[in-house]
Amino acid sequence: MLTLRSILSLPVILSTSILAHAFASPPLVRSNVNSVNGNGNGNGNGNGNGNGNSNGKSQSDSERMFASGFLDQQHLRDKPNYAANFIGGERCGEEEMVWISAGFDEMNQLFQASRNVDWTGDAERDFFGDPLRITNYTGLIEENLLRATQYSNLKGSNGTRMPDIHIRCDDPEDYCQNMFKNSGKHAVYNIGNEPHINFCPQYFNMDPLDAQVDEKADQEKNNVMKYYNRATAWARQIMHFSAVGVAIRETVNPIGNMSTESMTSWTTTVTNASMNISILAGVTDEHPKTNGPNDIFVLKYAYGASRAKLLAALHTQMPYDTANNAETYALYAQARYVMARKGFYPNEPMLDSTDQAGLLRSKLQEGDNPKFNWVCYESLDTM
Ligand SMILES: *[C@@H]1O[C@H](CO)[C@@H](O)[C@H](O)[C@H]1NC(C)=O
Ligand SMILES: *[C@@H]1O[C@H](CO)[C@@H](O)[C@H](O)[C@H]1NC(C)=O
Ligand SMILES: *[C@@H]1O[C@H](CO)[C@@H](O)[C@H](O)[C@H]1NC(C)=O
Ligand SMILES: *[C@@H]1O[C@H](CO)[C@@H](O)[C@H](O)[C@H]1NC(C)=O
Ligand SMILES: *[C@@H]1O[C@H](CO)[C@@H](O)[C@H](O)[C@H]1NC(C)=O
Repeated sequence: MLTLRSILSLPVILSTSILAHAFASPPLVRSNVNSVNGNGNGNGNGNGNGNGNSNGKSQSDSERMFASGFLDQQHLRDKPNYAANFIGGERCGEEEMVWISAGFDEMNQLFQASRNVDWTGDAERDFFGDPLRITNYTGLIEENLLRATQYSNLKGSNGTRMPDIHIRCDDPEDYCQNMFKNSGKHAVYNIGNEPHINFCPQYFNMDPLDAQVDEKADQEKNNVMKYYNRATAWARQIMHFSAVGVAIRETVNPIGNMSTESMTSWTTTVTNASMNISILAGVTDEHPKTNGPNDIFVLKYAYGASRAKLLAALHTQMPYDTANNAETYALYAQARYVMARKGFYPNEPMLDSTDQAGLLRSKLQEGDNPKFNWVCYESLDTM
């Protein structure tokens, strides 16, 4: 839990409160894929389907439908026959399944566009950082992207078969309705850094990939957030799977007594870990909207393009913070897709990394426009 960053750049008292927060976050429950009717939580009206009473029926339909995986059977007749299956499907209705399957297919198109990384390119620099700064982590990032593209592998191909994905719409962690001031709601979230994804009502308001890309190419075409679509949401989820996203975890071994001022030096240990929420330190926000003293640092997690780009531009971030942020990969892949389809790079929001003081003062710290209401800016974790 103790990262080098938290020691170097935060007051000790705050580091302690962040640790306490991390420990206080809800337990990550690994769901039992086989018990579709089990532990339903009883929140039948919570997920936007409205008709809570019909859940019994739709679940048994679901069980039949999902018994042998449905990706290739029901909804994607004209789509590729992917090697990986979906399983589960708790409380996902028929139309929702279509939206989920189509988003998965589009996500595969996004990641295909992100192959052949050019570390001197604008998109790479904006999202992952200056080539000199990121140099020790380029291999890791490329491998992460490569594993993500393997979800495109087809049945019968000789490529790696990625783990089946357990999808669900029953919000077992109760995050879907989590509403923060000036912030959106979660559209999707990962459970336990394994292939479990919950789809929230907000996901079903997100547009299809090409509808979004073609429409936005005519208005505010340079703003990368305008292209955010259901495939982008999917892409972030995939990066959280331990079979896809590998993150850098640097822990500090203090020499001396930390609670007194006698901690004079430390050593660090670097290990690989899954891309979970405590891996990413987040962007420091110096302007909390509180009535109390305003000289405290608050870490804002890196949803949305502004925060993701701040990870790359701010010198107070660790060089590997971009490599550790699932949203960064999703936005990068989305930018590459727009480049391939439209022939230009949507370069806004633009951040000037030569003006560090300006970046720290900037409104960008607050995240992107709140009208992107699937971006949960105030969330304390990037799920
Ligand atoms: C890359 O790693 C080497 C070896 O650990 C280290 O000496 C060097 O400072 C690192 N470079 C950057 C830019 O982080
Ligand atoms: C971490 O992962 C990278 C890329 O997959 C690999 O090159 C490196 O050897 C791994 N490091 C450890 C300590 O396992
Ligand atoms: C997998 O199939 C492709 C195309 O059919 C072929 O080029 C490649 O050599 C195969 N790889 C392995 C490891 O068999
Ligand atoms: C560190 O210092 C505090 C305050 O003086 C003391 O209570 C604590 O026992 C010390 N811890 C260690 C491991 O020496
Ligand atoms: C994140 O991963 C690290 C390393 O694998 C682990 O120690 C930590 O408990 C994880 N945190 C959460 C919230 O899962």
